Amino acid sequence: MRAVVTGGAGFLGSHLCDRLLAEGWEVLALDNLITGSESNVAHLSGNAKFRYEKKDVSEPLRVAGEVGYVFHFASPASPPDYLKFPIETLKVGSIATMHTLDLALEKKAKGSDKEAKEAKDTLDLVNRALALLRAGKPARLTERKKPGSTQPSTSGR
Ligand SMILES: NC(=O)c1ccc[n+]([C@@H]2O[C@H](COP(=O)([O-])OP(=O)(O)OC[C@H]3O[C@@H](n4cnc5c(N)ncnc54)[C@H](O)[C@@H]3O)[C@@H](O)[C@H]2O)c1
Repeated sequence: MRAVVTGGAGFLGSHLCDRLLAEGWEVLALDNLITGSESNVAHLSGNAKFRYEKKDVSEPLRVAGEVGYVFHFASPASPPDYLKFPIETLKVGSIATMHTLDLALEKKAKGSDKEAKEAKDTLDLVNRALALLRAGKPARLTERKKPGSTQPSTSGR
């Protein structure tokens, strides 16, 4: 069985690749190297069960063949990186999360409807905030729910 690890050339992702391979899994690591490094997975280059692909998972995600698990570890991981890559951090936490959940659902891999629903709500919130920002209105994000609604609200001022 094969696992997909996003952020596979990062600190946690590369160690997860090691562990999955040690347990007999095939592993496809996807990483755009924004904060990671190929050197983190260089020791796996001769392993026939391991493949690394340079890929931005905030872009549409297509993976051929069977997938048993999808592990989403791609993201800038520290406050200095969040400030250096603010839009990329937002996208990988929202859009890429949707792509990885869609991949899990498509492949009937591990993932849950609850997580997919939460990710869809977050993506909706981010899209509404971006629309307000593009319209020149600073957005204020709140987790408060409108009366009678299950959706978090976004307000522009
Ligand atoms: N390191 C920790 O102690 C720790 C603790 C708790 C949570 N986390 C979380 O775990 C995740 C990974 O942390 P890390 O320490 O391994 O960080 P890291 O920066 O070493 O690894 C993240 C990897 O994701 C890749 N990446 C980022 N955006 C991408 C994109 N759009 N497409 C493809 N690849 C992308 C980066 O290039 C990098 O290789 C982060 O979400 C982090 O917040 C880390």
